[in-house]
Amino acid sequence: MSSPTDYLFSPLAYGSALSAIGIYLLRQYMQGGQFTTKTDETGRVAIVTGCNQGIGKETVLELALRGATIYMACRDMKKCESARREIIEATNNQNIFARELDLSSMKSIRNFAAGFKREQSKLHILINNAGIMDCPKMLTEDGFEMQIGVNHMGHFLLTLLLLDLLKSSAPSRIVVLSSIAHRFGRIKRDDLNSEKSYDRKMAYCQSKLANILFTRELAKRLEGTKVTVNALHPGVVNTELFRNTPFLGSRFGKFIIAPLIWIFIKTARNGAQTTLYTALDPSLENVSGRYFSDCKPKHVGSAAQYDDDAEFLWAKSEKWTGVKFE
Ligand SMILES: *[C@@H]1O[C@H](CO)[C@@H](O)[C@H](O)[C@H]1NC(C)=O
Repeated sequence: MSSPTDYLFSPLAYGSALSAIGIYLLRQYMQGGQFTTKTDETGRVAIVTGCNQGIGKETVLELALRGATIYMACRDMKKCESARREIIEATNNQNIFARELDLSSMKSIRNFAAGFKREQSKLHILINNAGIMDCPKMLTEDGFEMQIGVNHMGHFLLTLLLLDLLKSSAPSRIVVLSSIAHRFGRIKRDDLNSEKSYDRKMAYCQSKLANILFTRELAKRLEGTKVTVNALHPGVVNTELFRNTPFLGSRFGKFIIAPLIWIFIKTARNGAQTTLYTALDPSLENVSGRYFSDCKPKHVGSAAQYDDDAEFLWAKSEKWTGVKFE
C-alpha cells in the first residue's frame, strides 16, 4: 500500500535530496571566489587580449559595466566585432573598441601597439588573457613553438612595447593569466623552443611557468614605478581553450564526460573573477610580483621560484623578440 506521500518520506527521497544539495554545494564551492568590490573605472583605459569569448569576454563585460574604455585585442575580427556589439548593447558603454592582434605574429603585435598609441595616450590596465593550450606541434610566424610563442613571447613583446604608456599613466596594472599547470612545468634551458622534442602538455606547462617567471622578473624591474604586475590561475574553466583536448571535443566527451565534470568546472563568468580582482581591487594597489587564485594570494610552485630561470628566460625573450627593457 504505497502512496505518493509514502515516497516523500522515504529514505530514498531524503537520500536523493541530500545528494542533490551536496552536489549543488560542491559545485558552488568549486566556482571559487567572487569579486564584488565596487569600483568606478570611468576614464581608465584597458586592453584585454583574446577576449571574443570565455573569460576574456566576461572580463571586458564587467570592465565595461564599471565604465572603463576597453580595447578588445583579438585575432578573429568577426567574432571580436560581434562580441563588442553584444557588450555595448548589454552595458550601454560606447567606449569599447575591437582591434586586430595576432600573438603568433610579431608584426601583428607591433602593428597593434603602434595603432593603440596613435589612438590613446593612456593605458591603465593591460590584461594578458589570450592563450593556446595543448596544441599539436606548430610554429608562429616567427618560428617560435606555438605555446611558448603565443602564451609567453607574444605577451612579452606586447607588454614591453606598452610599458612606456603604462608608466606614464601610473598607477597602472598588468595582469598575466597563468595556470596551476605551471606547477608541472620546467624551463627547458637546452631546448626552450622544443626543437629536439615536443610534448604538447609539457609545452603548455612550460609556457604557463614562463608567465609566472616573467611576472616576477618584471615586478622586480618595475619597483618604484607604480606599475604593478601580477599573475593568476583563473580556475578550470569551460571555454574554447579545451578545443584541442581530444575527448572533450568528441561526442562521447560532450554527452558523457562533460556532465560529470560540470561540477568541477567554472563558468566563464566565475573564471573572470580573479582577473577582475587582480586588475581592480584597491587593496592590491601596491602589490606586485604575486600569484592569485580564487581571489586570494597563493604560493607559486617551486619551479617558479628559480630566479636564474627567470633571468635566463628574460634574456632569451629579449633576444627572440628584439625588444629591450629600459
Ligand atoms: C600604497 O602605498 C602608498 C604610498 O606608500 C600608500 O599611501 C597607500 O596607502 C598604499 N595603499 C594600500 C592599499 O596599502
